[in-house]
Amino acid sequence: MSDESRANFGSKIGAILAAAGSAVGLGNIWRFPYQTGNDGGAAFILVYIGCILFFGIPVMIAEFTIGRHSRSNTARAYQILAPGTQWKWVGRWGVLTGFLILSYYAVVAGWTLEYFLQAAGNSFIGKTPEQFTESFNTFTASPWRSVLWLVLFMFATHFIIVKGVQQGIERSAKILMPVLFILLIIMAFCSVLLPGSGPGLEFLLMPDFNKVNSGVLLSAMGQTFYSLSLGMGCLCTYASYFQSDTNLTKTAINVATIDSMVAILAGLIIFPAAFSVGIQPDAGPSLVFITLPNVLTRAFAGLPWLTYILSTAFYLLLALAALTSTISMHEVVTVYLHEEFKMSRRKAAWLVTSICGFIGIICALSMGIGKEYTLFGMTLFDIFDFVTAKLMLPIGGFFISIFTGWYLDKKILHDELNSGGHLPVFLYKAIVFILRVVAPIGIGFVFINELGVL
Ligand code: TRP
Repeated sequence: MSDESRANFGSKIGAILAAAGSAVGLGNIWRFPYQTGNDGGAAFILVYIGCILFFGIPVMIAEFTIGRHSRSNTARAYQILAPGTQWKWVGRWGVLTGFLILSYYAVVAGWTLEYFLQAAGNSFIGKTPEQFTESFNTFTASPWRSVLWLVLFMFATHFIIVKGVQQGIERSAKILMPVLFILLIIMAFCSVLLPGSGPGLEFLLMPDFNKVNSGVLLSAMGQTFYSLSLGMGCLCTYASYFQSDTNLTKTAINVATIDSMVAILAGLIIFPAAFSVGIQPDAGPSLVFITLPNVLTRAFAGLPWLTYILSTAFYLLLALAALTSTISMHEVVTVYLHEEFKMSRRKAAWLVTSICGFIGIICALSMGIGKEYTLFGMTLFDIFDFVTAKLMLPIGGFFISIFTGWYLDKKILHDELNSGGHLPVFLYKAIVFILRVVAPIGIGFVFINELGVL
């Protein structure tokens, strides 16, 4: 497929923002705080930062290289770079992973709409902590309410996907990202300045290494791939729309920095405030939906208008951040169907929307009326999260590193990494070494340790 016939991001900053828009989402603001809360705070964050440096950034560079060089959907990319081999399965594996993540991710994305409306309707003020918990449980247990929001969210995603890459994805990311960032900084300030926020800051900043076990390693690694949208060809697909002189290494570092800053800001919003009002940090997936409104109403009890503005803006922007992420997953599957099965973009998008919507409905119901149906103590929703984030993405990342480090022609890698600016030789060598040795061994080690695969 030639350059001209495919869409391109119109500007370099547009490309960075679109990739950052994919990366920044519920993973940072919903998943990161509750993983941090469950896995011991600062020590988890340090391991997570290590994973970003040693797995995240190099694998992102690898995905960018594969995508931009092949200018194709993620499955075809491997057929172009490694014709006649089985590497195409890495791409197909990615498409499947993206499809599965989108199905349950859209459920949580739907919750943000419900909470946005609740915040905008001023229904947080005056609620007791028990009432917040109760209203979350009633909401997720109600069969039609979460399904309705999920369906709406899928339609919103669908609509933007059909409008196409540059107009839809790039434009929405350009406006949303900076606004989200500013709001998060304001909220983090408010939270840190609350009386009694000290223990929360300590929880985030003073590591206790006794808490690091193999489970923590697996969580941190899964969170890295999840949060950076890696391991399934999502950023590979976006890179296929990059201009040929976009600097891949710089873009990867920028995206990883923005993404980590948003996650840390989310932590800085939730934990100091939670400790300040005496709420436990390990509430799990409901943290952002129960703890946060609770914290906001109690922390600013004397200033209800501030609670109103902050909570409404927060859930609106969370919904929008989730939207730029669902768009990126939807795009991977849609462009795959469109290019591989010669379907129109519109038809491909409909297919993805309807099947993901259907699986999403089952996941949403599994939190409520289907709660008794569990496997290994997990509901269907938990299983989707575990299997995709902790197994499928790292497996994808493992093969992407090996492909780029060992199989891919080094001239291609070298040229791609050097276009848009000269890359210092030691950095190039370090990237190749990490992709060849460090990332595959590291990912393999975490797996063997946690899952007892050997
Ligand atoms: N990274 C996004 C978030 O943090 C979610 C996401 C978008 C994703 N695309 C992905 C996760 C691809 C894994 C793979 O919310």
